[in-house]
Amino acid sequence: MTAPLVEQAGGRVEGDNPAIRLSAVSKIYGQGRNGLLALDEVSLDVAPGEFVCLLGASGCGKSTLLSLVAGLDRPTAGTIEVDRKRVALMFQEPALFPWLTVSANVEMALRAKGLAKAERRERAQEFLRVVHLGDFGAKRPHELSGGMRQRVALARALAQDADVLLMDEPFGALDAMTRDLLHDELERIWRERGLAVLFVTHNVREAVRLGDRVVLLSSRPGRVVEDFRVTLPRPRRGESPEVGRQAAQITERLKQEVMRHGGN
Ligand SMILES: Nc1ncnc2c1ncn2[C@@H]1O[C@H](COP(=O)(O)OP(=O)(O)O)[C@@H](O)[C@H]1O
Ligand SMILES: [Mg+2]
Repeated sequence: MTAPLVEQAGGRVEGDNPAIRLSAVSKIYGQGRNGLLALDEVSLDVAPGEFVCLLGASGCGKSTLLSLVAGLDRPTAGTIEVDRKRVALMFQEPALFPWLTVSANVEMALRAKGLAKAERRERAQEFLRVVHLGDFGAKRPHELSGGMRQRVALARALAQDADVLLMDEPFGALDAMTRDLLHDELERIWRERGLAVLFVTHNVREAVRLGDRVVLLSSRPGRVVEDFRVTLPRPRRGESPEVGRQAAQITERLKQEVMRHGGN
């Protein structure tokens, strides 16, 4: 008997102070008979310092779930516990202000702290160094590559003093090589800072490359159908056979889910 490639983690994590806790969260868009059930009683914990990947077919409610956690929208039912003051959000498009320099984009995140301008600049520079963009503070976003712009967005997220990072397919628009580099960087920063990360993706290998857990959502309405714990040692390589094997196993499960729902 070989050990299972992927173990069940089983819903809740240990410990009583999760960074994020969703309890029976449902979301209906619209009203009455025209209402669309996007999420159906999703319960999920993310522990402090834990990296959880949320995986599911497109349209299953991943972005909906993140927007609820971020407080951009309210659940129809259920509760969400998270300290929103400590949450930063990152999207597929970095959403930088094009007329501001890279440094000024990061400084924006420091505004709320009441720091003097010089101090804001200095701290922004520190965060840019963390994402290896220390020499690019004076550039404008359009002068940078897509991967670099995403790193600016990451620096801005960190500058918000976040210890919970919500990421919605943040590397989906990047080429494979750039994505690999950003995986390495994100993993380093996550470990150094002890962040709790909830990372949405439809890329199974990416989920296995990064996650302590991979939580699989069903096709719409999104429900948690499986919660895999990934125990492969880090740092992992996205193209390694071990990651490939676990990804294949999860893909099989994902396919069953999509088929069961007629592939919608
Ligand atoms: N603001 C909205 N109003 C109405 N329907 C929405 C809204 N946002 C998302 N939906 C619908 O909810 C479902 C889930 O969407 P979404 O969370 O974006 O899925 P995913 O991110 O997994 O692709 C989809 O059917 C989508 O069309
Ligand atoms: Mg989405």
